[in-house]
Amino acid sequence: MICLTLSEPTIQQAVERVKKEREYIDMVELRLDFLTKKECEKASTFPSLVDLPCIVTNRRVQDGGKCALSEKQRRAQLLAAMDGDFKYIDIEEDLKRGELDEKAEARGIKIIRSLHDFSCVPDDIFSRIQQLRKRADVAKVAVTPRGIADVMTLFNAQKELEGTEKIIIGMGPYGVPTRILYKRMGSMLTFCSDNQTAPGQLSSRTLKQLYRADRVDDKTAIYAIIGNNVMSSLSPCIHNPGFAGIKYNAIYVPFLVDSVRAFFALAENLKIRGFSVTVPYKLEVLSYLGNITREVKQIGACNTVVRMPGLWKGINTDYYGFLAPIEKDIEEGRIKSALVLGAGGASNAIVWALRNRNVRVTILNRTLSRAEKIAQINICQFDKLENYHDYEGQVDLIVQTTTVGYDSWENPVEGFRLTGREICYDIITKPKETKFLADAKAAGCTVHYGIEMLIAQGKLQFEAFTGYHYPRSVQPDLSTGSL
Ligand code: ATR
Repeated sequence: MICLTLSEPTIQQAVERVKKEREYIDMVELRLDFLTKKECEKASTFPSLVDLPCIVTNRRVQDGGKCALSEKQRRAQLLAAMDGDFKYIDIEEDLKRGELDEKAEARGIKIIRSLHDFSCVPDDIFSRIQQLRKRADVAKVAVTPRGIADVMTLFNAQKELEGTEKIIIGMGPYGVPTRILYKRMGSMLTFCSDNQTAPGQLSSRTLKQLYRADRVDDKTAIYAIIGNNVMSSLSPCIHNPGFAGIKYNAIYVPFLVDSVRAFFALAENLKIRGFSVTVPYKLEVLSYLGNITREVKQIGACNTVVRMPGLWKGINTDYYGFLAPIEKDIEEGRIKSALVLGAGGASNAIVWALRNRNVRVTILNRTLSRAEKIAQINICQFDKLENYHDYEGQVDLIVQTTTVGYDSWENPVEGFRLTGREICYDIITKPKETKFLADAKAAGCTVHYGIEMLIAQGKLQFEAFTGYHYPRSVQPDLSTGSL
């Protein structure tokens, strides 16, 4: 079940919120601690105003909530709310059995016993879940994984605690996969909210529409993306709709990763079928692969890993993804020479792709030694970025691979005089249009966006994952981002 956590100040607003998100949710949690004192007095009416099972919760500040009342007043609010038809009440682990339990039992309200830890995943988590379960209908733990090894502990809950009614939530950025794959952990529900009432929470629409999290079952094939900044990745918006488009029971989930080794262990555990690799792991994954393609060997970087019988295979779809939007121009002789700005990881693959298509390349980089290194491997020219004016009117293609323009309205070759015949290509995906491209457009140049490369490489990755072409009927919507 997908459960919407309500953090509105009034009952009326809470009801409106439920109506707005109704198609994405199966359950709601009314948080008394977000209601004003006056509105809290009306809380018992809430279940009759919505057509979904309701949980009532009054979260203390120490557990991440807002209720700063005395314990007696807090419980009094809960007791009053329990006059309404709530299906569940959330009672914290440390509360001794008392009037809340008695009233819940008398009124047929199920008890969720909850434990919160905002700093870590406690070592004794499984025994604590079993202890909680003894005192309640449902045991709930919301803990904070500090790395991928902790995430593995949470996924092991299903094996360790089979048959126990439970809710297990990994909070914070490492915990995001546990929220999406809640059914794989044997969790009764996952919480969602637009206002992030707990760290790492996703919106109901993201969980239901993008991930189809409630449809995950034992047979669902899991795919992933790993990196140190995957939460803003657009790739889930390519793969998940693609899977739906070919009616493949599969899900593509972002994993923030701190250790590649631990992730490979988790990948075995979850039987992950394949995954995308982003910064900074494109090199580090190589040592775990049993088979790599020629491109991976040449470029020295892998962005796609696929499970094969007995081994992991590494491929590089960045290479083809980059070429896809300009392939025709190269074939038809409109691109014979190129300037590549930047000499980071992405630049290496791009220079290699262009050299392989017989394009003359000059790499310009702020740090000359990095440009020289790539130039030597790929047999091409290099120069300092500051000398860019020397190349005006000399090239057919300019590829922007530096990080300049990612979070600022800056062009690394400000004032470069374009003839209007150049093709300008920026590999930055956010923002879609950088200053480099805006200036190129203003000069009448043909431009290519980083998003084109992202979609092209994603579609190839999809083929590597599934063995099927990306469905033509699906247009990935990258306007909103994945989370
Ligand atoms: P990636 O591997 O993702 O390409 P990277 O290795 O950090 O990322 O490379 C970033 C590129 O942007 C490099 O070419 C970097 O230039 P240096 O090699 O001189 O560091 C370039 N870059 C970053 N900030 C820059 C700036 N302010 N001006 C010019 N180039 C910059």
